[in-house]
Amino acid sequence: MKNIEVCYTPNSILNYKLSNKIIVVIDILRATSTIVTLFSKGATSITPIETLDECKKYKNKGYVIMAERMGKKVKGFDFGNSPSKILGKKFKNKKIAIATSNGTKTILKTRKSKMTLIGSFLNLQSIVKYLDKQNNNILLLCSGWQGSINLEDTLFAGAIISSISNYTSESDSTIIAKNLYESNKDDIFNIMKKSSHAKRLSSNDNLIDIKFCSQIDKYDLIPYLDNDRLKLL
Ligand code: MLT
Repeated sequence: MKNIEVCYTPNSILNYKLSNKIIVVIDILRATSTIVTLFSKGATSITPIETLDECKKYKNKGYVIMAERMGKKVKGFDFGNSPSKILGKKFKNKKIAIATSNGTKTILKTRKSKMTLIGSFLNLQSIVKYLDKQNNNILLLCSGWQGSINLEDTLFAGAIISSISNYTSESDSTIIAKNLYESNKDDIFNIMKKSSHAKRLSSNDNLIDIKFCSQIDKYDLIPYLDNDRLKLL
């Protein structure tokens, strides 16, 4: 029977063998939610980047450049990491480079995986349906915040575990996430508002992003990592 596990912060990723696993990278507030939203608006590819300087260099290559630090847009970039602030913008056939505090760094840590997918509440069922058809062990990798566990990523990991069918999920890591989700699934927004990053974001008038990122199955799409960039499956 295939198994599914949760890695609560990228700092613990060395505890796992990656080459035989499908990894779902999770950064609900807001990197993976923004990435899914950008693809829903027709972006061609999204390159996750570690540093601001490296990301800025992509401007001369004709990319849209996006960057966030401490929940805020970084000066000199086209956009920050707010999914609600990009809804009215055009990204059809655009190539994007993005650097965020945790999410993009977490994606880059998975390059040795069998496959890396991008998950958010916005594309929950797309991810669950795809995973149910696979024969590989799964690692749900939470981005957390600067090495610490966070509530919203754990909640989403629980949503996958609660919805998926033919997997064994008895490890403590999965039981914790599953219970958190099942005791809050009727009002995701309400519990997400209590998270430390939600408080950080709402102090920067980004409450609308928390509401946006708590929507379930808004998009039917799956971004995956193809060498150094994300593309649509
Ligand atoms: C992150 O990468 O830590 C988050 O996506 C930050 C944010 O967008 O607020």
